[in-house]
Amino acid sequence: MDPLTLESAALSADGRSLVILDQTLLPGEVRYLSLTETEDIVEAIRALRVRGAPAIGVAAAYGLYLAAQRLDAEDMDQFLSGLRQAAETLNGARPTAVNLSWALSRMLGAAEQNRALPVAQVKALLRREADAIRTEDIAISREIGRLGLGLLRPGDGILTHCNAGTLATAKYGTALAPIYAALEAGRTDLRVYCDETRPLLQGARLTAFELQSAGVDTTLICDSMASITMARGRVDIVFVGCDRVCANGDFANKIGTSGVAILAKHYGIPFYVCAPSSTIDMGLARGEEIPIEERPAEEVTQLWYAQPMAPAGVKVDNPAFDVTDHGLVTGFITEKGIAYPPFDKAFRDFGF
Ligand code: MRU
Repeated sequence: MDPLTLESAALSADGRSLVILDQTLLPGEVRYLSLTETEDIVEAIRALRVRGAPAIGVAAAYGLYLAAQRLDAEDMDQFLSGLRQAAETLNGARPTAVNLSWALSRMLGAAEQNRALPVAQVKALLRREADAIRTEDIAISREIGRLGLGLLRPGDGILTHCNAGTLATAKYGTALAPIYAALEAGRTDLRVYCDETRPLLQGARLTAFELQSAGVDTTLICDSMASITMARGRVDIVFVGCDRVCANGDFANKIGTSGVAILAKHYGIPFYVCAPSSTIDMGLARGEEIPIEERPAEEVTQLWYAQPMAPAGVKVDNPAFDVTDHGLVTGFITEKGIAYPPFDKAFRDFGF
């Protein structure tokens, strides 16, 4: 199966529902869900049925469009107030990936700027805005892929953490986009190491599934094996995605990313963050300001196990993301170019 045929989040052909691939069922089953209600879309984002920062943004944009369709408002003020309420509900689904609030703000902005139009026309333009968020994301991923491919030498070993592939975006992914670009260019020389990414195993369940389906030389490792894999000389470069990048280059990504960055620095391996502009939050100065999602203990103790694998009642911490210091980052691959330190200046030069 070609993983690029999978759709993480899209509007149905009749325009009446959001269709998402339920990623909690992968790799065992490819099943699509058709969602119409705001609360069901919030549940799907919260439960990681649709996940990955850009895909969450696309799902939320269509979620807001569907909510707008249902609003039975008498005038524009009433319509905008209902729209803001729906956006607030969707925005509460997850806190760390800035793409969620970015996509919702963009949708609200489009409605507010056109408040002089009849409500029916504003509803129609919200669909076009959500479509634009999705199609722009595809183009951005392609450009990140093209730029990332330029960093890859023949036979390189790439280590990645979590899933920043086609499943996490509208198409192509961010950290995996250079690998899809390599395949398109006929290159089969690359090797990819996927961290399994405890506790939710996005690396094992999603990245390994995606890359193996695409015919890439894929090796799954436990998170704790990254150091020996690097020490054995198997990793030439690290590509990871991100959920929110601050103005100084500190960034949040799936829990465990900062450890990979520290290891890469130790072994002298270049560490690149693949960052679409929708993930760059110039409103936050540094990493301590990023809200970190805390998730239920059961995800650590039993979710992926036939039997609970920890004693009942044990204290559990389950932060879903960590923050990597900008000093550990070689560069950010954005659609505007590769940003090198000092990142605050590079981001400003790119117009972020
Ligand atoms: O909790 P998740 O699975 O949504 O976390 C996803 C990640 O951390 C990804 O690396 C990030 O969103 C970038 S996806 C292109």
